[in-house]
Amino acid sequence: MSPGAIPPLTATQLDDPMNVSEIFETMDYGPAPEDAAEALAWLVDGGDRFGHFIDGEFTRPGKGFDTKNPATGETLATVSQGSKKDVDNAVAAARRAQGKWAKLTGHQRARYMYALARLVQKHSRLFAVLETLDNGKPIRESRDIDIPLVARHFYYHAGMAQLMDSELTGAEPLGVCGQIIPWNFPLLMLSWKIAPAIAMGNTVVLKPAEYTSLTALLFAQICQEAGLPKGVVNIVTGDGTTGELIVTHADINKVAFTGSTSVGRRIRLATAGTGKSLTLELGGKSPYIVFDDADIDSAVEGLVDAIWFNQGQVCCAGSRLIVQEGIADRFYEKLKSRMDGLRIGNPLDKCIDVGAIVDPVQLETITRLVREYGGEGDVYHAKTPLPDTGCFYPPTLITGLQSSSRLMQEEIFGPVLAATTFRTPSEAVALANNTRYGLAASLWSENINLALDIAPKLVAGVVWVNATNLFDAAAGFGGLRESGFGREGGWEGLRAYTKPRTSTKPLKQLTREAEPAHPEISGLDRTAKLYIGGKQARPDGGYSTPVWSPRGKLLGHASLANRKDLRNAVEAAHSAKNWANTTGHLRAQILYYIAENLSAREDEFADRIRDLTGVHAKTAMVEVETSISRLFTYAAWADKLDGAAKGVPIRGIALAMNEPVGLIGALCPDETPLLGLISTVAPAIAMGNRVVAIASEPFPLAATDFYQILETSDVPAGVVNILTGSHGELAPQLAGHMGLDAVWNFSSTDLSAVIEKESAGNLKRIWTNNTRTRNWLGREGEGREFLAHATEIKTVWVPYGE
Ligand code: NAI
Repeated sequence: MSPGAIPPLTATQLDDPMNVSEIFETMDYGPAPEDAAEALAWLVDGGDRFGHFIDGEFTRPGKGFDTKNPATGETLATVSQGSKKDVDNAVAAARRAQGKWAKLTGHQRARYMYALARLVQKHSRLFAVLETLDNGKPIRESRDIDIPLVARHFYYHAGMAQLMDSELTGAEPLGVCGQIIPWNFPLLMLSWKIAPAIAMGNTVVLKPAEYTSLTALLFAQICQEAGLPKGVVNIVTGDGTTGELIVTHADINKVAFTGSTSVGRRIRLATAGTGKSLTLELGGKSPYIVFDDADIDSAVEGLVDAIWFNQGQVCCAGSRLIVQEGIADRFYEKLKSRMDGLRIGNPLDKCIDVGAIVDPVQLETITRLVREYGGEGDVYHAKTPLPDTGCFYPPTLITGLQSSSRLMQEEIFGPVLAATTFRTPSEAVALANNTRYGLAASLWSENINLALDIAPKLVAGVVWVNATNLFDAAAGFGGLRESGFGREGGWEGLRAYTKPRTSTKPLKQLTREAEPAHPEISGLDRTAKLYIGGKQARPDGGYSTPVWSPRGKLLGHASLANRKDLRNAVEAAHSAKNWANTTGHLRAQILYYIAENLSAREDEFADRIRDLTGVHAKTAMVEVETSISRLFTYAAWADKLDGAAKGVPIRGIALAMNEPVGLIGALCPDETPLLGLISTVAPAIAMGNRVVAIASEPFPLAATDFYQILETSDVPAGVVNILTGSHGELAPQLAGHMGLDAVWNFSSTDLSAVIEKESAGNLKRIWTNNTRTRNWLGREGEGREFLAHATEIKTVWVPYGE
């Protein structure tokens, strides 16, 4: 069948139309098909073959692959497989365009983005139908959810472009962004990537997923219609190999990816050490918690949206039902009866609830997972007829699973709900958090106290209270743990496409003073210990290294920490988890107290810095004074990094709450050894994190003196742990440690590549200097950039009204 023809319909679809009296008798919906003619005509106009969109023009279609309608199996069109040359051309076009695009005023960029938003609206029906044909999602969803959100995203970010000049004065674009998106929300993910990027003055090379390239190509056409300057948006189609060419291209400054955790991990490895910034929005296994006081009918209805929206092919799908034991049986019964009423079939039918799975490969994965592991519980398939052909899978519920069951842990990415029960709220939290992911969570309770108590305890970037799958351009979306890092949407989303406007130079490696020819050794030979769990600890290996002053004086010995010391420090930090629950006010007082105690010994510290580094006495005193001021800065911030109530278009609120990242491992700057340590540790603990800090390698003794100050300043044991030793040896262990949530690297040793590579295990957040300088004494040594790295934004949606 040619792509221009209307797909054949199955028994449950149009060729079996009910007459009015039958509909009346059954009270069932009659079919209400959306007309696909315009979308199919668009494909025919394109010759059913598409090239890429590079430098404002469509290229001639090259060797490629078919893109199919998963509801029928028919080929819709052939799209080109992006080659190295195509990617090179696209990146070069984006590079040529970037400078000029960034130099436009925010207002000029806003006008283009407004034009894009208007054109998305103008062509919304065409976009919706094309999306449904290509992806298999019900037309009701593409028409009422995907495409309106796309337009909203461009409107919202037109505003961000407009405000950039006045509100983001310290920020500049990153450059050329490589963006790789999945097939579950093809155009919506495109808008989430392109809108913030170009609003901030970046240009993009975007690759849609191989199953669903068509709406991206239609979008390319509206870029032409909007008169967008050539090269600002480039679309290259292709599979993972094309994606890899983009990710590894030397002239890309940023990679933004949405897709599977396994590919995300590969991208983390491929970009390690390249200096490219990276955001990853990956998989999830989001909990859907129902307390016994929930409005059960609403919670059942919510589940339909949570797990059967888009056939469950949603990264934040509520795919793990965790229901309170007392209501579980009743809940399952209601749920099963609702499942039986779901209508599966032709996605173009406006009466259809559940459409087609995107591709036979995905259908096979879902089928296999349920076949192999469903037996760990009781499998219930909805008693609703399936079309005879096409990629369809029935809504499925699997009850009686253990938290450790394969299907409670693995992302199935299909219409399959895995369920278990809980008894107490704390058990619900434990079950919900028992996952390697941390993307989203829903919780249902009529008790507002309970709901707002539980929401912050869930390890998730987004929490919906008595709701599910709410999205908006103004509200940040993104994950924790192996669900990736970075936020999309809101002010926080702009961070992924901007960098602070600073000028940096390559950082020269600083090394320890070698033993002089004529050493000056006087007084007692002191070996400074490590500082772990609030106690001074001898290094496990028993090794230390002499620390010489530039003038040849032996200043003491510093311990050489090894893997075991690091492990102990991480363990100590873990047991100090209550720090995250302390108030900002308390943390501020402790930071002030540290500053006060340091101030009482400032001469001694200045002498130490002078001895260690050989700087002038005045310079050393400036470092101490700046350190005290920096402690004041973060004492000030501890109770002032406010969250936000986002202006989302619902009756309700979306709260943006700043939460600590958790456990941060930090390689402190080698230069300015005291100030560097404080500039790293203070913002982290001010925001409620715990830290394992590796002191300046050449000048470790400023840090070991400093822990004496910590000991007298009411810092709870384990909140700050200080190790000394080789950055080169400790960095990979730090980055590879599964117990750490983030690693910050300011070392003068070139460690970015090894750190980023080793971090791929648990996809921890990395902030690394790429061996570039930072002026620790100046403004760039403190402030919001540090606070942003020390926090994660959790978006908590609370709709209200009876
Ligand atoms: P995928 O992660 O392989 O594909 C997503 C995108 O990445 C596509 O555009 C693909 O061409 C591209 N890609 C693949 N390999 C690449 C590489 N090495 N370098 C750069 N780009 C690459 O997802 P796939 O295979 O389509 O689906 C497999 C599973 O992934 C699903 O069953 C689901 O569990 C998960 N998934 C999660 C999504 C999410 O939104 N979190 C979206 C899509 C899939």
